Amino acid sequence: MKKVLIVFGTRPEAIKMAPVVHAFRARSDRFDTRVCVTGQHREILDQVLSFFDIHPDYDLNIMKPGQDLNQLTAAVILAMAPVLDEFQPDLLFVHGDTTTSAICALAGYYAGVKVCHVEAGLRTRDIYSPFPEELNRQLTARIASLHFAPTVHAKANLVAEGINAEQVFITGNTIIDALNYATGKVDTVETPELQQLKSYLGNKAPLILVTCHRRENFGAGLESICSALKRIAESHDIQLIYPVHPNPNISSVVRAKLDATRNIHLIKPLSYPAFIWLMKNCKFIITDSGGIQEEGNALGKQVLLLRSNTERPEVLGAGGVQLVGTDSEAIVSSAEVLLNNPMRNSLHHFPYGNGHAAADILSITIQEYVQAVP
Ligand code: UD1
Ligand code: UDP
Repeated sequence: MKKVLIVFGTRPEAIKMAPVVHAFRARSDRFDTRVCVTGQHREILDQVLSFFDIHPDYDLNIMKPGQDLNQLTAAVILAMAPVLDEFQPDLLFVHGDTTTSAICALAGYYAGVKVCHVEAGLRTRDIYSPFPEELNRQLTARIASLHFAPTVHAKANLVAEGINAEQVFITGNTIIDALNYATGKVDTVETPELQQLKSYLGNKAPLILVTCHRRENFGAGLESICSALKRIAESHDIQLIYPVHPNPNISSVVRAKLDATRNIHLIKPLSYPAFIWLMKNCKFIITDSGGIQEEGNALGKQVLLLRSNTERPEVLGAGGVQLVGTDSEAIVSSAEVLLNNPMRNSLHHFPYGNGHAAADILSITIQEYVQAVP
């Protein structure tokens, strides 16, 4: 029996690790699987845990309002070390690019535990964009023994950095597994949250979905994004639906700038199934998110990306993700093209897999660590 610790802390990690948790927990004959949440996020993490019915074995509960990266980093490593000491896992699974991922990987390395990295190999090669996520990914890659890359491109990035190709496995992205799981439930449940969203469809004005949270957009970038959203809303018969991230650096600015605009609806973060409903029913998406680029692609929605680069180049280009940065003029003009030309919203390739990524991660782990090292 191998001891597996799966750790995550933020909303997107929870969504993408949920299928991995379910896959490992279903094999209790082979693995003693425990889940640790750092609590880097709180309410928006708990929404996801509840939807996927995951009850963590360890909750480090480290979130403090408005905490900076130093406080976050210190809190994660200090709280994680005793968990590793107590459980003594054989394998530690981390996901993607957050401070939880990189710092838990580091704690695993200090404790002599093998680290497995899910969603490995995404790169912009600019450690300031996205900040600090690009460096978090590079650090985690140096530490990990097993790298689960979602695409061919991600694997090539790792091999180009000198990582042994035999330790890198292309699995697709677990976000497709999560999306399939959740999509099956969206159409069968009716919640007050969904009823509110459906009421926006009533007046026929197209829905534009917006999200924004990246640290490198704080300040001038976010001010410029808000100006663009206001201009788009004021000059078109649309409804802009914006679930606001709880980070105070975002929410205080967004509410001050946009709350008074009649057809901009600033709402609380949505549960995952409600957010999927909104993605499916919007005309297009304006975002700086990582995961929403993947989901937008899977759902056939065009994404205007409020960033100057992306670690997900597979979906760049006509009909997919367009880099529009934070310049107001560029955002407004790109949105107008999409508002006036619905034919552009069609995509033809889906690089993130078939929804079996978690099953592949499980079977590769068995092959590499259970059969090879019984
Ligand atoms: C974090 C990740 C980012 C990821 C994003 C997903 C890092 C450094 N950043 O950014 O990679 O893309 O999550 O959303 O790992 N807050 C709440 N409630 C919550 C969550 C956050 O109030 O449930 C507030 C708190 O004041 C917290 C602040 O937001 O201190 C910032 O949270 P933090 O996790 O540091 O950064 P994010 O911007 O959420
Ligand atoms: N999401 C959600 N509710 C919301 C906004 C986003 O469930 O109100 C989901 C979304 O479907 C995606 C993930 O959260 O799977 C993206 O999170 P975020 O943009 O915060 O992080 P990133 O992907 O940029 O790291």
